[in-house]
Amino acid sequence: MVKRNIVITGGAGFIGSHVVRLFVNKYPEYNIINLDKLTYAGNLANLKDVEDKPNYKFVRMDICDFEAFYKLMQEERIDGIIHLAAESHVDRSIKDPFTFAQTNVMGTLALLQAAKLYWESLPEKYEGKRFYHISTDEVYGALVMNHPGGIEPPFTTAASSGGHHLAYGDDFFYETTKYNPHSPYSASKASSDHFVRAYHDTYGMPTIVTNCSNNYGPYQFPEKLIPLFINNIRHRKPLPVYGRGENVRDWLFVEDHARAIDLIFHNGKIAETYNIGGFNEWKNIDIIKVVINTVDRLLGRKEDEDMDLITYVTDRLGHDARYAIDSTKLQKELGWEPSLQFEEGIEKTVRWYLDNQGWMDQVTSGEYQRYYEGMYSK
Ligand code: NAD
Ligand code: TYD
Repeated sequence: MVKRNIVITGGAGFIGSHVVRLFVNKYPEYNIINLDKLTYAGNLANLKDVEDKPNYKFVRMDICDFEAFYKLMQEERIDGIIHLAAESHVDRSIKDPFTFAQTNVMGTLALLQAAKLYWESLPEKYEGKRFYHISTDEVYGALVMNHPGGIEPPFTTAASSGGHHLAYGDDFFYETTKYNPHSPYSASKASSDHFVRAYHDTYGMPTIVTNCSNNYGPYQFPEKLIPLFINNIRHRKPLPVYGRGENVRDWLFVEDHARAIDLIFHNGKIAETYNIGGFNEWKNIDIIKVVINTVDRLLGRKEDEDMDLITYVTDRLGHDARYAIDSTKLQKELGWEPSLQFEEGIEKTVRWYLDNQGWMDQVTSGEYQRYYEGMYSK
């Protein structure tokens, strides 16, 4: 059994908690260190089920703290880094771009430099090491929507055949698509991706970058579309739809992303980029209707009872029209496929939020918000 000492950054956040859970449960021989600053988006309650496992450890640290991270690398003899910690919400980046540059760019650079110094000090240097950076499809910019009514897509996957499956344009994001970020969030993620690739090209660090589409599922902070709307429908609060609700996003169930990360961390080729997505494009307004129907059905409310909560509001600044990932490379080279049809994933997700109202109440409580906002603004 190969033993590894792996740091997962941002493990207390939405996607990170699913990655930590998967690795802790699947690889008892690995030491898994969850490194997280615990901003408002980080919540150790997301990992209650693994916190007592002997191969799991939590370290509270800011990824910008180069000295502390270098020390941790030495003490724990880290040979793998899976880097998810980031500021992740576009609306926040529009209000506060500096925090995004600091965490996403400078934080990533601090990790890279500490890893470089530590790994280069070892006799075997970079052999057996991995720096895996998790990024987003938003770095590619926005695709044209030249089929607003949707057309049959050129791709099918096991999980996408059946149910809704449309493409809203002829073009897709490929691994070779030129970077063209529009929001402060995507600009900061693009910059961090460039630094990661530069550490491979300049120093020979064994890096991998993946760019994934929008995730949904349990433990997502309710500032993002799907959990925010589930909670608002439950409490019969207005659903703020930006612009005309026509923007298209490509949605992937978070556990499918975590499985892809596991596969790529172990079998991906060094210096490669992989796009991750399930060929699952939806207009916001269509998704919102599915969510309303699902919540109403599961709560035993009348069909369409909550449709009038839909409230069109001023559009987001610089709102990207369409994202759509081509993940053929990952599917062909590593055999990954999304496991769920979207309708199943949404059902599972809505059920989880309704069954875990305590989690939702905790993160939306005034006390939680005040505590984290206070800490966050220090
Ligand atoms: P999230 O906001 O839910 O979690 C981010 C985590 O990072 C939190 O636990 C937070 O405490 C931690 N963090 C923030 N700043 C930190 C710092 N300075 N030092 C240490 N920890 C810090 O984010 P998420 O949605 O889980 O996204 C995780 C990663 O995946 C991000 O890099 C994001 O860009 C990328 N991504 C997200 C999506 C998506 O749909 N959510 C899609 C593609 C890629
Ligand atoms: P979001 O979940 O913030 O993810 P991202 O901006 O990274 O794609 O938003 C998903 C889509 O939903 C995006 O087109 C913006 C839209 N949206 C709304 O219409 N209303 C909302 O309240 C939110 C949070 C998002």
